[in-house]
Amino acid sequence: MKITIGCDHGGLRLKETIVQHLKERYEVTDIGTYSTESVDFPSYAEEVARSVTNKEADLGILVCGTGIGMSIAANKVPGIRAAVVLDCFSAQATREHNDSNVLCLGERVLGEGLALRIVDTWLSAEFSGGRHSKRLALVENIERSEGLR
Ligand code: RB5
Repeated sequence: MKITIGCDHGGLRLKETIVQHLKERYEVTDIGTYSTESVDFPSYAEEVARSVTNKEADLGILVCGTGIGMSIAANKVPGIRAAVVLDCFSAQATREHNDSNVLCLGERVLGEGLALRIVDTWLSAEFSGGRHSKRLALVENIERSEGLR
C-alpha cells in the first residue's frame, strides 16, 4: 500500500514518528515539511490530497497542530474524504462507514502512543460498502451540484 504523508510545523514531530513507524510495512512518501520553520498548512494538505485523487497513493495522512486545518483544506479537493480522528473507535468507523481516504491528526492534541494506534487502526480497517456506498454517492452529488466533478 502506498501512503503519502505531510505536515506543517505544528505536526512535524508526530509526522516523523509516524513515518518511522510505517516505513518498514508501507511505501511511504513524505512530502514535508521537514523543519520547524513556520509554513502554511493548505499547500501540504493539497499535495497529499491530490496524490490520493490522482492515484499516486492509496491513502494520505496529514498532521498539523489540531488536524483540523489540514482536514478543512484537504476536503476542498473533490474526491477527498478527510477525517480528523482522536480515538481508535472513530479511526475504524471512518474507514468502514465513510471510506475516508485521508487521516488528519493533531500533534498538540494526541499523545504519540494513541496517535500511532489510531494510524494502525485506520490503515487496517476496510470500507464496509453496502448502505454506506449510497451515502457516499450522496456526498459525491454535493460535489457535482457545485460543478466540482
Ligand atoms: C499552526 O500554528 C496551527 O495553526 C496549525 O498547525 C493547525 O493546527 C491548523 O489547523
